[in-house]
Amino acid sequence: MESSIRSESIPNNVNLDSAPGLVRAMSHWQSRFKEWWLERGPSAFQSHQVYLRTAVSVEPDGWARYEHVRMPEYRWGIFLAPSVRDRTIGFGDMQGQPVWQEPPEEHRESLRWLIAMQGDAEPASVEQQRLLGSTCPSLYDLRNLLQVNVEEARHLWGMSYLLLRYFGAEGWNAAEELLDRSSGDVERPRVLDAFNAPVEDWLHFFMYTAFTDRVGKVQLQAAAESAFDPLARTARFMATEEAHHLFVGETGVGRVLQRTVELMKNSPNGSARELGGIDLPVIQKYLNLWYSLTMDLFGAEVSRKAGAVFANGVKGRPKEAMFEDHDERGRSLRVESWDTAANAFRYQDVPVRSAMNEVLRGLFTLDCRSVVERWNKVLASQGLQERLQLPSRRFNRQQGLLSSGHFALDGTPVSAEEWARRRSEWLPTEDDRAAVRNVQARAVLAPGEMANWIAPPPRGIHGKPLDFAYVRVET
Ligand SMILES: [Fe+2]
Ligand SMILES: [Fe+2]
Repeated sequence: MESSIRSESIPNNVNLDSAPGLVRAMSHWQSRFKEWWLERGPSAFQSHQVYLRTAVSVEPDGWARYEHVRMPEYRWGIFLAPSVRDRTIGFGDMQGQPVWQEPPEEHRESLRWLIAMQGDAEPASVEQQRLLGSTCPSLYDLRNLLQVNVEEARHLWGMSYLLLRYFGAEGWNAAEELLDRSSGDVERPRVLDAFNAPVEDWLHFFMYTAFTDRVGKVQLQAAAESAFDPLARTARFMATEEAHHLFVGETGVGRVLQRTVELMKNSPNGSARELGGIDLPVIQKYLNLWYSLTMDLFGAEVSRKAGAVFANGVKGRPKEAMFEDHDERGRSLRVESWDTAANAFRYQDVPVRSAMNEVLRGLFTLDCRSVVERWNKVLASQGLQERLQLPSRRFNRQQGLLSSGHFALDGTPVSAEEWARRRSEWLPTEDDRAAVRNVQARAVLAPGEMANWIAPPPRGIHGKPLDFAYVRVET
């Protein structure tokens, strides 16, 4: 049978031409992917020309091309970062041994699991964000949303490629499942809870790309250390794109803050909401919500599976070379838990290997702290006294050793009654969400125009002016 795709229709640097069987498998998967994109990808603007960047190589000085393209015609490619000569395993029991070009039999299952978990989050985020286009604050922001969406879809391609190429029939099934599951679906939901709720407004979207995509970055950096070289190289290149998603989130929240302060200054009562903006306490509540939701994504504080994955070389830590000890056989980490019956914290010393999820969570928190510091610089530069705060790691946890307790933003234990009473101070209420939806009720689609609740960005995309037609809506 003549294949409906040729490898040249999939930009790649993995020599697809040399593997006709794989091209056939990918062709089948591609047709299902296209159905998925149209059904569960962005709900609007599919037939519009969008100024998108497409990955065309992995060369640092020219890996992307920028042009107007209709999203269904986007060329989702497969790119692995260049291989490192004589690369050896950098951590765990097999440190110093050559990396694997094929998954070894004994680690096949955990590799497949890891790739499928990463793969599930990519399309989930596209599904969660699918309705946002209809309330975009500008063409600049609309384009950024759609850019993030096509790149998450490319990450799905990257993970599916690994499953189809290296994991036989089970890999094939796993790749199909990535398209079968659907965010929020009752019967076949996405694997993790946090990927099953819709991202219902743009403040949620910016917090999502600031925090949830940052979890993605940490996990990709950890996968980039993997002894399975094709995974390491895929993850390294994905991290390049991920940086843009974090930029969209961080600068998005920064621009909301800037506008909020401007409106506060202009309002006789100091209220941004009165002038069609978003109040600072609401922004803080959204931050509290998304930070606590993403903390749960790292998994159990004490996990033998996480320990085994590290010991076996399947997944390391971000920038493993920066750590002193790449073996971590002898050291331990103090892990906190909440004892509901005794109404007290408990502490246990756990081998670092088994506490690997906690190690990653700690790195993530450090990263988030510097993001919040940068947001606070926006407030300080406008002469405002108020500051945003990152909540305690104990706050609002639904998973793990702290989830049975209730804690205030600063981590102080509170009773269930106090939690119920003060929840609306700490997390977005229906009224807060409605207020945000209200100011974002309609899309702003004129080139150069900006919704009232957000400041314009300092510059456009890829050297283009702010009033550039980032999405051609007139056609
Ligand atoms: Fe991604
Ligand atoms: Fe992302």
